[in-house]
Amino acid sequence: MSTLPPELQTELAQQVAAADHPREQVINIMYVLQKHYGYMSDEAVEEAAALLDMTPLEVEELATFYDFIYREAVGKFVIHVCDGVVCWMFHEGSVFDYLCEKLGVCAGGVSADGMFTVLPSACLGFCDHAPAMLINGVFYGHLNPEKIDAILEKLRREYCDLVICR
Ligand code: FES
Repeated sequence: MSTLPPELQTELAQQVAAADHPREQVINIMYVLQKHYGYMSDEAVEEAAALLDMTPLEVEELATFYDFIYREAVGKFVIHVCDGVVCWMFHEGSVFDYLCEKLGVCAGGVSADGMFTVLPSACLGFCDHAPAMLINGVFYGHLNPEKIDAILEKLRREYCDLVICR
């Protein structure tokens, strides 16, 4: 039995009904469910499968294929660090290792304050700004330790402001 709010259930059912083939909506449905649950939980996989007339295994295969669908809980900010060849050429040290050390996390883990998850990613298409990373859909390039520290600090500050304003 679904635990989704009725309005969200209706919205998703309409989205699926409007498609020529329900399966073509699988990524969109997963994004909506991920936003609702915070990540693509087992419950979300079951929900998507029921909505799309797919098996949970079929949804699982797609969920684990895409870098931007998360099967484990993630922090408020998900940092996708480019692991592409151009970014490597411009690394003095590893941006990925620097972030993991700075935040005290391993790949895919969540920092102790619940704010950050760091993941490696294929080329982000931002090569002319290498080395690059993407955080919650925003690109950051020409990275170095000082710039990374400033970005993390800004995100922490902005998130705190956001919470206070609520
Ligand atoms: S190789 Fe890093 S953005 Fe393309």
